Amino acid sequence: MKPENHPTASTTRHLRRVGLAMSAMLVTTGLLLAPLKTAQAQTQTAANTPLKVGLMLPYTGTYASLGNAIENGFKLYVNEQGGKLSGREVEFIKVDDESDPSKATDNVNKLVKRDHVDVLIGSVHSGVAMAMAKVAKETDTLMIVPNAGSDAVTGPMCATNIFRSSFSNWQTGYAMGEVLAKKGIKRVATITWKYAAGDENVRGFKEAFEKGGGTVIKELNLPFPNVEFQALLTDIAAAKPEAVFTFFAGGGAVKFVKDYAAAGLKKTIPLYGAGFLTDGTLDAQGEAAEGLFTTLHYADSLNLPKDKSFRLNYAKTFKLQPDVYAVQGYDAAQILAIGLKAVNGDVSKKAEFAKAVEAAKIDSPRGTFTLSKAHNPVQDMYLRQVVGKENKLVGIASKSLNDPARGCKM
Ligand code: BEZ
Repeated sequence: MKPENHPTASTTRHLRRVGLAMSAMLVTTGLLLAPLKTAQAQTQTAANTPLKVGLMLPYTGTYASLGNAIENGFKLYVNEQGGKLSGREVEFIKVDDESDPSKATDNVNKLVKRDHVDVLIGSVHSGVAMAMAKVAKETDTLMIVPNAGSDAVTGPMCATNIFRSSFSNWQTGYAMGEVLAKKGIKRVATITWKYAAGDENVRGFKEAFEKGGGTVIKELNLPFPNVEFQALLTDIAAAKPEAVFTFFAGGGAVKFVKDYAAAGLKKTIPLYGAGFLTDGTLDAQGEAAEGLFTTLHYADSLNLPKDKSFRLNYAKTFKLQPDVYAVQGYDAAQILAIGLKAVNGDVSKKAEFAKAVEAAKIDSPRGTFTLSKAHNPVQDMYLRQVVGKENKLVGIASKSLNDPARGCKM
């Protein structure tokens, strides 16, 4: 290279200045603005495209009626908003999860990876919900649980993008443990399905009942969704407890309550349960359910303005009376709406979405509730008694009950 071709220090400085000026031009003319424009375009596209809601619920099997009620409740809220949330039309993609945990990972992957849903709503069964939460966490997909009480979902699996509009299994069991201990009952037998919901309801019940001086003398189980109760009812009669605590729901709850009465046990050993035992089931249970006491975060006679309008709209729309599952579906949609409003419909903003929901007071038919740091409802647990076709409010069993969220690191 000839000496005159060597750049001097001043030409180097000049060239550097030109380079900087050129990149400044690129910024103003748009090339380096590209990421910014893409973000704007994404927000605009999000606003113009339907919000894809993946409903992963049981539509067949023992929990089918629960899945339908959740869907109805969710759609009722969306309809009340004119069919849109944060300006976005709502498109539903449905999967029947059959309350089968062994199919849950494939089912949720279809919704997330094939259908690219913006939010997962599901499920009813705790085992299914845990599989969903794992995928939601791994793929950072928004998820709202409209029933399944799995303690793990708002415990060790808790995450910024996962919320629950229902309850934890610990909460529903714990409330009844307090009630029976306060009644002075000392010896109780428990009976339930052997899976997370049954185990955790019994664990919550035991925690409060033993704290209050009671003892669980026998724990009976059968596999989900088995309904062959006879041998276990014989075991209960032989153990002669003062009372029985149980978790069953849906079709299984109908059969259990009828079998318990038919075995003659209802008159001799009072039956108590988490409120799923008699919610959405009373028409089918008839006289066998009359007088039963249960604890739940909803009752049929709350007499709150929000509950009255909800019940009226639900009955008008679906020609059915709502139950706790319909309420949870409705509130899942409310939670989604609150979060979406804060992020202008952009579901990618998970932290802002969560911040808005964490700060919200949710105006539910069950009464106003908030979400805990782990994203589980902090709510009153009611004591109810079956009178005719209603779970009548008796009183508040546990005020503003907060799940301990053991293992949650948020
Ligand atoms: C559960 O699996 O968590 C569940 C199912 C039905 C009613 C309540 C809880």
